[in-house]
Amino acid sequence: SGQAAGKKTGTVERFTSTGFILAAIGSSVGLGNMWKFPYITGKHGGAAFFLLFIICLIIVGLPILLAEMTIGRGGRGNASISFFNLTGKKYWGAFGLLSILTAFMIMSYYAIVAGWTLHYTVESFTGLLFQEGSDYKVKFLSFASGYWPIFWQAVVMVFTGGVLAKGVSGGIEKFNKILIPGFLIILLILMVRSLTLPGAAEGVSFFLKPDFSKLDAESALVALGHAFFSLSLGMGCMLTYGSYVEKRQSLGTATLAIGFGDLVYAFIAGLVIFPTVFSYGLQPGEGVGLAFMALPAAFSQMPFGFFFGGLFFLLLAIAALTSAISILEVPVAYAMHKWQWSRKKSAIILSILCFIVGVPSGLSVGGVLGDFHPGGKTIFDWMDFLTSYILMPFGGLVVTLFTGYAWKKAGEEAGLKGFWYKAWMFLLRVIVPILIVCVFLHSVGIIKF
Ligand code: PHE
Repeated sequence: SGQAAGKKTGTVERFTSTGFILAAIGSSVGLGNMWKFPYITGKHGGAAFFLLFIICLIIVGLPILLAEMTIGRGGRGNASISFFNLTGKKYWGAFGLLSILTAFMIMSYYAIVAGWTLHYTVESFTGLLFQEGSDYKVKFLSFASGYWPIFWQAVVMVFTGGVLAKGVSGGIEKFNKILIPGFLIILLILMVRSLTLPGAAEGVSFFLKPDFSKLDAESALVALGHAFFSLSLGMGCMLTYGSYVEKRQSLGTATLAIGFGDLVYAFIAGLVIFPTVFSYGLQPGEGVGLAFMALPAAFSQMPFGFFFGGLFFLLLAIAALTSAISILEVPVAYAMHKWQWSRKKSAIILSILCFIVGVPSGLSVGGVLGDFHPGGKTIFDWMDFLTSYILMPFGGLVVTLFTGYAWKKAGEEAGLKGFWYKAWMFLLRVIVPILIVCVFLHSVGIIKF
C-alpha cells in the first residue's frame, strides 16, 4: 500500500459517510454500555444517575468528541502527528504520543474482558454454562483464574488484528456495517424478552424513576468519567477515525449522531438488564460481576435461557470487538506513519505486542498473579485505574486545551459559526477543563468526598 502522492504526512484512507458514523458508534458502544453502565447505574441508585450521565455526555462528552474528530480531520494524521501538523509545535505532538500509549494499554486489558464474553457466548449456546445448582459466582471466578482467558484473549487479538490489516474501508468500515445493525436486532429481541418477564416493571422503575437522594459528588465524578469512556474519548480514538473522514461530512451532525447512538444503546441495555435482574430477585448493585456472575443465574431459570443468554453474551462480544478495533487502530495508524510499516505489518506486530502486555492483566483476576497487588490493586485494576481515571482525562484535557486555546482554526474545520461556535468554545475553554481537573484530583486522592 504505502503513502500516495500529495501530503506526505497525511492519511490517505477514507471512510464513506455512513461507514464513518457506524464505525464511530461501534467504537463508542462497547463493554462500557453493556457491562459497565448497568453496574455503575445500579450502584449509584438507578435513574437519577442515568440523568446525570446524560448531562455529562452533553456538557463534556460532545464538545470533546467534536474536538477530537476536528483535530483528526484537520491534521489528517495519527493521534500524535495531527497536533503537530496543525500548529508546527513539537510538544503538542508529544502530548498526543501519550494518548497512543493509553490506547495500547487499554487494548491490553480490554481484550481480556472481550475474551470473557466470547467464552460465555460459547458456553451459553452449548448449554455448558447452565447446570442444576450452579453457583455462577464460583463458576466465573474459577474460569477467570485459569488459563482459558488467555486463549480467548489471543482470539480477540487475532480477530482485531485481522480486521485492521484489511484497512479502513475494507476492514473497519465493512465489519461495522455488518455488525452494528445485527447488534441492534439482537438488542431489541432481548429487550422484548426482558420487558415481558414477570416483575419486569420493578426493574424499569428502578432504571427510570429518579431518586435524587442517592446522588452525591462521587456519583457526579463517576458519571463524568463514564461519559468519557463511553464516547471513547481521551485516547486518540475518535481523532484517528476523524482523520479518515471526508471534508464534506458535517462533523457537528456526526457528533450528535454518535452521542445519540451511544445514549440509545445504553438506554436499551438498561432495559435489558434491570428488568431481568429484578425479575429473578438479583441485586442491581452487584458491581463488576453483574453481567458474568448475576445474569447467568437469571438465564438459567428462564425458558430457552441458553438461547437468550447466548444472545446476550454475543451482544457483549460484538460490542467489545467493534470497540477493540477502534482502540488498536490508534497505535496501528501511528506505527504506519512513524516507521512507514505497511498496514498489515503494523496490525500484526501491534496485536502480538498487545497480547504479550495483556497477559499479566489476564492472570491477575484470581489467577497466578491474583495475589500480587502492589499498592492495593491487582495488575488488571491498575491498568483500568491508570487509563480510565488518569490517562484518559489527561488526554481529554490536552484535546480540550489544544482546541480551545492553541489551534485558532478549529471552528472553520468543525463547521461551527455564531452561537454554536461560542458555546463550544465556552465549554472547551472554561467548563470542561475545570470538570476534568476535578476528576483528576479526585482520582489521585487530592479531593475527597
Ligand atoms: N467506548 C467503549 C465502551 O464503551 C470503550 C472504549 C474506550 C473504546 C476507549 C475506545 C476507546 O466500551
